[in-house]
Amino acid sequence: MSNLDLLSLIQGKVRSLKAYQVENIDCAVKLHANENPFQLPEELLSGFSKSFKKLQLNRYPDPDSRALKESIAKRLNAPIENLIIGNGSDELILLLLQVFCNEGDSISFPDPTFAMYSIIARGLGLNPCSFPLDEHWDFDARSFLKTANDSESRIVFLSYPNNPTGNCFSEDQVRHVIECFEGIVVVDEAYYDFSGKSFARKIEQHNNLVVLRSLSKIGLAGLRVGFGIADPLVIDQLNKVRLPYNSNTVSQTLAEYLLNHFDRVQQQIDTILEERDRMIGELKKVGSVTVFPSDSNFIMFRTEQLAEDLFRHLMDNGILVRDLSAHPKLKNCLRATVGTREENDRFLEAMALAVGK
Ligand SMILES: Cc1ncc(COP(=O)(O)O)c(C=O)c1O
Repeated sequence: MSNLDLLSLIQGKVRSLKAYQVENIDCAVKLHANENPFQLPEELLSGFSKSFKKLQLNRYPDPDSRALKESIAKRLNAPIENLIIGNGSDELILLLLQVFCNEGDSISFPDPTFAMYSIIARGLGLNPCSFPLDEHWDFDARSFLKTANDSESRIVFLSYPNNPTGNCFSEDQVRHVIECFEGIVVVDEAYYDFSGKSFARKIEQHNNLVVLRSLSKIGLAGLRVGFGIADPLVIDQLNKVRLPYNSNTVSQTLAEYLLNHFDRVQQQIDTILEERDRMIGELKKVGSVTVFPSDSNFIMFRTEQLAEDLFRHLMDNGILVRDLSAHPKLKNCLRATVGTREENDRFLEAMALAVGK
C-alpha cells in the first residue's frame, strides 16, 4: 500500500492552476457555450450515416487528415501545406505555445478575452500578460504592442471576433499588430462563420501570422474539429509536437462531409444571424440592460441588477447562460448564445420578467 503526498509530486505551476469551468448543468435551454442550436441538417446526417458504415474504425485514423485538409484547402483556396487539423482549435493553441515558448516566456492578449490562452499558458509555465480593452472593447495597437514588447512576448493572441465581448476589434488595429509585431500573431477566428471577416489572406505577406478556425460553432462541437492556417514552416513545427492521431476518423469524415455540403449549414448560420439581430433588438427594449454589439453567435449584455441573481432567475426558468461577472471588467455581465427562435423567445420572456420595467 502507498499513501504518498501526491500534491507534493505535482509541478508547482499546475498545482496553482484552476481548471477551466465548464457548466454542465442539465437545462432545457442551453445558451452558455456558443454552440449551434440546430442539429445537423437531416440530409447531412443521412448522407453521413451511409459513409459511416464504410469507415474502418478498427484502423487508426489518417494521421495527416489529408481528405479533410483537401476540403478545407478547396474552400479557402489555400495550399494544403498551410493547414493543420486540431482536436478543436483549443489543441492548436496548446501546440503553438509548445512550439514558440520556453518556460518562463510571456504571451500577450487584450483582456477580457478567451480564457484558454491564459489557462494553457500557465499550465506550461508561461507568463500571460493582459492588456485592458477600452470601453468599446477595442484596443490601440501601439499601446498593446508596447505591452507585448516590454514583456518580450513570443506570441500575441487576438480573438476576432472576441469572446466574450462579441465584437471584432478595429481592422486597422489588428492589421497594425500583424504588420509590426516581431513574434507570432495568432488571429483566432473561431467565430468567422458569423463575422465573415478574416485575416487569412495576409498569411501570404506575413509569415508570422497564424489564423485559427473552428467547426465547433457551426454544428460539430461534439466532434472537436479545429484547424490552423499558417506558413508551411510553422505547420511543420506544429506537426512535430502534435500527437499523430489527434483527429479521429469519425471527426475527420463528418467534418469533410459538412464542408463539402456547406450550403445546408450556411442556411443555419443565416438563421442564427437573423435571430441574433432580432435578439439584440428585443433585448434593447428590455429596461435596464446594456447590450453590446456582436459579430458572432452570442451576445454580451450588462444588467443593473446583480448578474448572479439574473443568472439564477434564468436558470429557474430552464435557461443556462454564461455569468461573466467574476472578471473585474465584466461586472454584472452575462453572455447568451443565440439559440433557436423558440429558445430565444423563452430567454427574452424570462429577461423581461426579471429586469423589464
Ligand atoms: C475565441 C475562441 N477560440 C477557440 C475556442 C475553442 O474552440 P474549439 O471548440 O474549436 O476548441 C473557443 C471556444 O469557445 C473560442 O471562443
